[in-house]
Amino acid sequence: MAKKKATFVCRNCGYETSGWMGKCPSCQQYNTFDEVKEERTMPESAKPSLKAGWIAERGTSKLSEVSKEEEPRFSSGITELDRILGGGFVEGSLTLVGGDPGIGKSTLLMQVSGAANVSGEILYVSGEESKSQIRMRADRLGISRESISLCSQTSFEHISDLITERKPGLCIIDSIQTLYSEEIASAPGSVTQTREVTAGLLRLAKSLNVPIVLVGHVTKDGAIAGPRIIEHMVDTVLYFEGDGSSSLRMLRATKNRFGATGEMAFFEMTQEGLRCVENASALLLSGRPHMAPGSVITAVVEGTRAILLEIQALMSPTAYSNPQRMTQGLDRNRVSMLLAVLESKCRVGIANMDAYINVVGGMRIDETACDLAILCAVYSSFSGKPLRENTLVLGEVGLTGELRPVSDLEKRISDAARLGFSACVLPGASKSAAERLPVKIEYIYVDRLSEVIDILFS
Ligand code: TYD
Ligand code: MG
Repeated sequence: MAKKKATFVCRNCGYETSGWMGKCPSCQQYNTFDEVKEERTMPESAKPSLKAGWIAERGTSKLSEVSKEEEPRFSSGITELDRILGGGFVEGSLTLVGGDPGIGKSTLLMQVSGAANVSGEILYVSGEESKSQIRMRADRLGISRESISLCSQTSFEHISDLITERKPGLCIIDSIQTLYSEEIASAPGSVTQTREVTAGLLRLAKSLNVPIVLVGHVTKDGAIAGPRIIEHMVDTVLYFEGDGSSSLRMLRATKNRFGATGEMAFFEMTQEGLRCVENASALLLSGRPHMAPGSVITAVVEGTRAILLEIQALMSPTAYSNPQRMTQGLDRNRVSMLLAVLESKCRVGIANMDAYINVVGGMRIDETACDLAILCAVYSSFSGKPLRENTLVLGEVGLTGELRPVSDLEKRISDAARLGFSACVLPGASKSAAERLPVKIEYIYVDRLSEVIDILFS
């Protein structure tokens, strides 16, 4: 007899509990729990592809005796993508590409199909679009590679047979949430289906050495399971970032079993698809307002590169009993803390003001090196005084209002100097490091938050 154990899994983030909950304690979303009845044994009818494990070794090996060959890789044909993958796709690996609907996942993967350095067949499986829709997109992107085969299919069993039979050089599944397995009695897009089908594809990828790329939609309404619930199974996780208002698209590697994480690729969405952007800072700063109160430029380090970006703040008297704290691209708790430091250490009366703080361009940042820039934007909006032009602001803010040094100064400052910045506001503790840099830029050293206000806005 199969033993059934009921658990409840959050569709959005994969959080598991033994009882139903209205609000997920992990991702704070409401009404996202699905009951998942786990069968402890597979039904007799289950296909070998679902049943068998791909690792079936009995003995053990000494660590020192295991060969340490580099995994064979092939180029995706897209330079920025290769860079964040660590040199291209690894053979037999399972990669997840996640992002909001319409951000460019299918476009990117069609471009990969057209340009990837593989000799075999490229199998593009779509459960979302008809073949003619895919053909039209390929035409728009100028892709007419002979070795691309299209398949409109959502049955895992069919796709599994197809992959086993053809052993393609690359397989793309668009999207994982549309697939279903007949063996599993729950709806396509549910937590159980999505997990089991991913596990099946993982076994296929490893046992046949076929690289598989999965598309995963990040959904807001929570009706279907989000890609986070399969992150732990795949080898590599790439997420798209970007907002609808700009053509800039970022792709971040949040997990990579074959390379570094934290690297970020930049693309521009054009009429001819996604184009690699080498100088992301220039694109992010283009069209920024000059001498506008509330706008401050800072630099973040993503992997091996520094990126300059604009932080905007708008402070306005509140109409509510609890002032609003809205952020986009920033951690709201961190921003609340910073606002409290500004209020109490510099006696700036912002307690009765709504604060709206954005990172321009749709990027998400979690570096503390941007603390000071956030508060400069807030104070600049509050006082109506712009920061002087072409000035970069760097520094972490502590709870006592002290400023702490930032890492990777050279990357950040040389990028700014290249783009014509003439001055940089820095914590005093970074002085010795800054003075050693071969960049000609004026440094303004500050030790405390209160000093910053006196020096920059008086
Ligand atoms: P798509 O790749 O279909 O998004 P996803 O698969 O992530 O849901 O991209 C959809 C958007 O991209 C759509 O709004 C149109 C735009 N687009 C371009 O601007 N240029 C192009 O060449 C293509 C193919 C799409
Ligand atoms: Mg799509």
